Amino acid sequence: MTAGSLPNLPPPLLPYDRIPLVKGLPLVGNLPKFLRDPLANARSLEVHGNAVRSRTFFETLTLLGPEANQFVLHDRDGNFSSRGGWTYWIDAVFPGAIMAMDDPQHRHHRRIMQGAFKRAAMERYVQAMGPVIEQALAGWPAGPMRMFPRLKALTLDIAARVFMGMALGPEADRMNRAFIDTVEASLALLRRPVPPFAMWRGVRARRWLATLMRSRIAGKRAAEGPDLFSQLCQARDEDGERFSDDEVVDHMIFLMMAAHDTTTSALTTMVYCLARHPEWQERLRADAQALPADHLAFADLAGRERTEWVMKEALRLYPPLTSIPRKAARDCSFGGYRIPKGTPVGISPIHTHHMPSIWTNPHDFDPERFAPERAEHKRHAYAYVPFGGGAHLCIGQHFADMEVKSVMHQLLRRWRWRVADGYRMPYQLVPIAKPRDGLPVVLEAL
Ligand code: HEM
Repeated sequence: MTAGSLPNLPPPLLPYDRIPLVKGLPLVGNLPKFLRDPLANARSLEVHGNAVRSRTFFETLTLLGPEANQFVLHDRDGNFSSRGGWTYWIDAVFPGAIMAMDDPQHRHHRRIMQGAFKRAAMERYVQAMGPVIEQALAGWPAGPMRMFPRLKALTLDIAARVFMGMALGPEADRMNRAFIDTVEASLALLRRPVPPFAMWRGVRARRWLATLMRSRIAGKRAAEGPDLFSQLCQARDEDGERFSDDEVVDHMIFLMMAAHDTTTSALTTMVYCLARHPEWQERLRADAQALPADHLAFADLAGRERTEWVMKEALRLYPPLTSIPRKAARDCSFGGYRIPKGTPVGISPIHTHHMPSIWTNPHDFDPERFAPERAEHKRHAYAYVPFGGGAHLCIGQHFADMEVKSVMHQLLRRWRWRVADGYRMPYQLVPIAKPRDGLPVVLEAL
């Protein structure tokens, strides 16, 4: 600083209404684009900067890039409310979901829930999965079939056995339908439960699931079992507090949905990528065959390095949750703009996962980008966020890792699969990424 000059002060913040606004189509704004392809939608916003206003269901401020992810998810200053972000989408069908709680309530629930994800419990869960996977895969037909519904049925079966401690019988289809209805209700345009529309179907499905869970609570409280339901009934925080019956029901329904829909999405993308890249399928198969046991054990998980790269790459290319909503809980600022309290804010993991400034050839399937020598995901702490981050970081991240590796291990040892030449899987990316066509594959027994 020279004598008499002023220190370099940051430029004053610009008001909210100076943030670029992308109007989109009359009446519907960017909603059709967002529903069709959230990556293309985020790309079209990106040309205006890393903070852009647009209208999907309502006007939302989209913040783009790893710094934005860190600002919103890490949120050391308590600028954002998860409750405010998620309520519109999930409150009618997933009331009491931990994902839609703010502190101090969130911290309290998370501490108790954490008890159901301790190492000893996880070891039991992975052990319980093995026979469920074996039984399901043994019943698959050789030849052409649609992969997505099979994987969805399998992950629901695993969730029922491992989470609820029950083997699914005739109620399997009803439960599957109930979760589909609750998830679909999140995007319902008509938000009131009017028959026969999506919100009504979702609310009705929620009621059925709640009755089912409630009918089992007394048994789970009476005797501790290895399943997650029982762990939730028994789990206590450091002060000895535990969940009420209503809270157990709310958490179980949300956990069952969060666990099986997302892992189905991850497994489907992996199966698709491995069908299009048979050299990788053979590498992973060789790794699976190198282990003596048919079922993966907890101790084997850490050694599944190449499977882990493929899983990470699948979640990078197609994160099951392509965007994460919040609401500004107080006035704050980002990128030189003021963000007033009450502003709906969204970040876009799928956009960050395709930024050429972070990833080499971001659209290519290249699992070795996660190898220690390259570690592209470490170029920024919030470059790779399929599981979110901060206080709401996915509590089931390690469970998902265990489940995906366990299913892949058995799938690779039992079946080889391929897709038709030139096939490209058509994705429906919201609310949770999945194929529009069920992913047709041809299975060949080994
Ligand atoms: C590949 C699989 C999965 C993906 C990609 C995924 C993704 C996510 C993401 C992005 C969030 C953060 C949402 C936010 O910040 O608003 C989240 C939260 C959560 N996930 Fe997962 N998830 C997966 C598997 C699971 C599994 C297996 C479980 C249960 C066993 C689970 C249970 C939860 C719960 C309870 C939360 C809320 C945590 C909190 O608010 O404290 N997820 N997940």
